[in-house]
Amino acid sequence: MFELLNAVPPDPIMGLTEAFKNDPNPDKINLGVGVYKDSQGATPILATVKEAERRLIDSEKTKSYLGIDGSPEFAQAVQELIFGLEHPLVRGHRVVTAQTPGGTAALRVAADLIKQKFPETTVWLSDPTWANHHSIFTAAGLAVRKYAYYSAETKDVDFERMVDSLKEVPASDVVVLHGCCHNPTGADPDLNQWKVLEEVIEERGWLPIIDFAYQGFADGIEEDAQGLLQLLTPGCEAIICSSFSKNFGIYCERVGALSAIGSTAEATQIVHGHIKRSIRANYSNPPYHGAAIVSIILNDPELRRQWEGEVDEMRDRIGLMRELFVKTLKEKGVKHDFSFLAEQRGMFSFSGLTKEHVAALKERYAIYIVDNGRINVAGMTESNMDYLCMAIANVLQEG
Ligand code: LMR
Repeated sequence: MFELLNAVPPDPIMGLTEAFKNDPNPDKINLGVGVYKDSQGATPILATVKEAERRLIDSEKTKSYLGIDGSPEFAQAVQELIFGLEHPLVRGHRVVTAQTPGGTAALRVAADLIKQKFPETTVWLSDPTWANHHSIFTAAGLAVRKYAYYSAETKDVDFERMVDSLKEVPASDVVVLHGCCHNPTGADPDLNQWKVLEEVIEERGWLPIIDFAYQGFADGIEEDAQGLLQLLTPGCEAIICSSFSKNFGIYCERVGALSAIGSTAEATQIVHGHIKRSIRANYSNPPYHGAAIVSIILNDPELRRQWEGEVDEMRDRIGLMRELFVKTLKEKGVKHDFSFLAEQRGMFSFSGLTKEHVAALKERYAIYIVDNGRINVAGMTESNMDYLCMAIANVLQEG
C-alpha cells in the first residue's frame, strides 16, 4: 500500500518548525508557528501553571479514565471564562462543554458530528484563514468554501464584502468565525460589526462555529469574549471551540473545549450525546493533566487573578513588539508603510510580504515566515529585531 503513496509537502506551519530546528544558522528566527517568546527568546512555563502542577502532583489519586467529555470542573470553568456564570444561556442549561485535546480536536469533533448527521453541509471559512481549518473540515469529509474577509488594501476586515458573502450562505451550512485575534490577519470585526453579524445569522439561519484560540490576547479575558457574545440571541444555536494553548502557554499539553449552545435545554442535552459519540469514535476520551492545570488555576481565586496578570503581560509584550517592529523597519529605511501592524491584534499579522520575499528571508537570513506572509509577532524579541528588520529591508529593496 505504502508504495502507492505520493510524497506530501510539509505542513505550511508545523513544517516550518521542523526546518527551523534543522537550520544551523545561529541568527535564525522562527516567526512561523504561533508560539509566544519572552524577552529572552524563551517560551516560559507560567508561574501559575507550575504552581497548579505542584498541587496536582500532591493531590491526584488515580490515573483512571476521565468521562468521554472530560472533567466537569474544567467544563464549568470554561463556561465561566467565556460567558460568565450568570449568563442566561448558562443558567438556562443551554450550553454543554466537552474537554478536548486542543482547539483543533474541538473543531474536528464538531466537524465529525456535522458530517455524520448533516452530510451535505458546506463549511464556509474566511478568506484567508488558519491553514489547518481547511484540512480539518475536509478530513471530516465536508465541503469547504470561502467567504470574503480581508482587504489587502486597507489591511483591515472588508466588512461590507464579508456581510455580502455571508448573506449568500444557505441556512443549512456552517460558517467558521474567529472569536478574536483573527488568524492569520490580526484584523477583527468591532463590536458593532459583531452585532451586524448576529443580524445576518438571524436572517439567514446558518450555524456559526466560533474558533476561540486567543482569548485574552486582544484586549483582555472578558473583553475578548464580547464580540462572540453579541451573536448569542435567546433562540440561537452555536458552537465555540476554545484553545488554552496560548493563554496558559500549555501548547504541548493539548487543552481545548467544545461548547455547544442549543436552542432549548432539551436540544442541548441531545447535542451533548452526539458530541460524546463523536469523541468516543475519535480519541475515546481526553487526557487529564493539562485540563487539570486549567481547572486548578481557574477555580482558585488567587491563582486566577495571578494568571490574568500573566496573560496581560504576554499581551502587552506582543503590543510592544508590534510597535518596535514598525519603528525599527522605519529606521532601516523601509519606505513601505507598515504602521498597520501596530493596529492589529493577537499573535499574528498579515505582513503583505510575497511568497518570493518569504523564500528569500528563509534562504538568505534563516528567517521563517508562513508562505502567505503571516508573521508571528509574538516570536519577535528585542534582541532579534535589528537583524529581522535589516533582512526585511534588504529583501524589500531587491523587489
Ligand atoms: C498557529 O496557527 O501557528 C497555531 O495555531 C499553531 C498551529 O497548530 O498551527
